[in-house]
Amino acid sequence: MVPVLDRGFLYGDSVYEVVRTYGGRPFEMDRHLARMEKTAQRIGLTLPPRETILRELQRTLEAAANAEAYARIIVTRGIGEFGLSPFLARGEHRMVVIVRPLTPIPEEQYERGLRMAIAKTRRNPPQALDPALKTGNYLNNILAVKEANEAGADDAILLDLAGRVTEGSTSNVFFVQRGVLVTPPLDLGMLEGVTRAVFIGIARDEGFLVHEEPHGPEALAAADEVFMTSTLREAMPVTSLVFLESSGDQMRKVADGKPGPVAKRLRAAFRSYVERTHLRR
Ligand code: PDD
Repeated sequence: MVPVLDRGFLYGDSVYEVVRTYGGRPFEMDRHLARMEKTAQRIGLTLPPRETILRELQRTLEAAANAEAYARIIVTRGIGEFGLSPFLARGEHRMVVIVRPLTPIPEEQYERGLRMAIAKTRRNPPQALDPALKTGNYLNNILAVKEANEAGADDAILLDLAGRVTEGSTSNVFFVQRGVLVTPPLDLGMLEGVTRAVFIGIARDEGFLVHEEPHGPEALAAADEVFMTSTLREAMPVTSLVFLESSGDQMRKVADGKPGPVAKRLRAAFRSYVERTHLRR
């Protein structure tokens, strides 16, 4: 039971992480926990000790006994009297672990790619609710996804207030231009994706130049390839873009509208990274 006075429920006053298992074991836990600790520290929320989080996650995974699992770890600021002040919380966080069977994204989705809308809703700037924090407050992203879905797109990409590409609603974005891999720099305001970091490392090992630099959405439309990275998607090609702010010709294909070779190659390299670093240990 979650009491209705829980601040996570009332205000999104919580932190969370989504992890998945490969070979039954949660992947890149150190990075996920480090991000969770950073978020908690920035919003002044006390987390249970790492050992407790890991033990409860393990216990839930075992109880569910799925072949592969999706797990969401949530820690809220707990219960308190009505009122925004975090000092109203009684100082007891509430931890919830949700485990579901992992439904892998069908390969045909990777063959088809995504249609991403460039949303009118902008990513909130780092001076507001910093997008680097993985809190339970996702309404900004929900509004962007709503716009995207209403326009027939799968998901949304958000720009910052200056019109530069930041990230997807629950994933990071990369594009390929003349063989160079480009992704927006973290200081624009976005989540530092665990998958983003892993793919940057893998791409460099594969001999790619990786540039972290700001670009407008036109650069995505002109790219040879665009793809999104996240825990659940790994590297998912984007094959068309819908520009929701422009009038007239809104839909633009990425290159010839088919997934490109780089995303495919990097995803294969990612799979062997998982094999090497995670499954054989
Ligand atoms: N989302 N950007 C945002 C806003 C996200 O919510 C996520 C993760 C990412 C990708 O991060 P990672 O590579 O660490 O999964 C980027 C998770 C999957 C979710 O909320 O379901």
